[in-house]
Amino acid sequence: MRIAVLRDYQSLSERAAALVSARIGKKPTAVLGLATGSTPLGLYRELVKAAQRGLVDFSGVTTFNLDEYYPIERESPQSYYYYMQQHFWGPLGICPGRAHIPDGRAGDIAGVCSDYEQKIMDAGGIDLQILGIGVNGHIGFNEPGAALSAKTHLASLSAETIAANSRFFEDRDAVPRRAISMGLGTIMKAREILLLASGSEKARAIGETVRGKLTTEVPASLLQAHPRVTVMVDRAAACCLR
Ligand code: GLP
Repeated sequence: MRIAVLRDYQSLSERAAALVSARIGKKPTAVLGLATGSTPLGLYRELVKAAQRGLVDFSGVTTFNLDEYYPIERESPQSYYYYMQQHFWGPLGICPGRAHIPDGRAGDIAGVCSDYEQKIMDAGGIDLQILGIGVNGHIGFNEPGAALSAKTHLASLSAETIAANSRFFEDRDAVPRRAISMGLGTIMKAREILLLASGSEKARAIGETVRGKLTTEVPASLLQAHPRVTVMVDRAAACCLR
């Protein structure tokens, strides 16, 4: 794992955007795995700015999001579809056929999950997967537990995640209890991974991810077994790494 500690959230976002832009510069048809949540917002803002200045070109890029709540309507402001449209696909004008996200409205969940895996394979696999991390060490919606799913699946949110994500909803009861998420195998197959974390509330999870044992109780710790991972954190999130 390469660890980069940045001064603050803005420096983290700029450095992450520089890495993503460099990879697209090298491979204009790159396949990106994308995350949602508060953490990558700065990265997306910087990438949109860079694209508007003509410094990076997303016209050949394909994207696959990590996860989506289930059930949820696309038009719901809390859906990850809406988030992506608002912060990334919309401003960049990414063609809908190239921007993928699990369908949170689906009736046939098993079909949606296997289709998603197939689409990733058909696109040639993920070149660069961007990840945030939950306070409990989850990635995507792969929550701590005795076992983890390898592939895209219907996941149950932990009480901790429901509490953390309730800030985006009216209240805790409004948070969907389930989500469709890439599995640990889907994530580990990416050729490169960029994990982002900001703020002291992520410090424990980052410490366990980088320095701890590999355990399904901290799903992100399994990234230690991946050959090409960069963990980019700000000082506050790095405080357990000293
Ligand atoms: C959510 C998402 C994750 C995200 C995590 C952290 O539950 N499923 O993909 O990384 O929470 O979110 P935030 O960046 O808002 O702290």
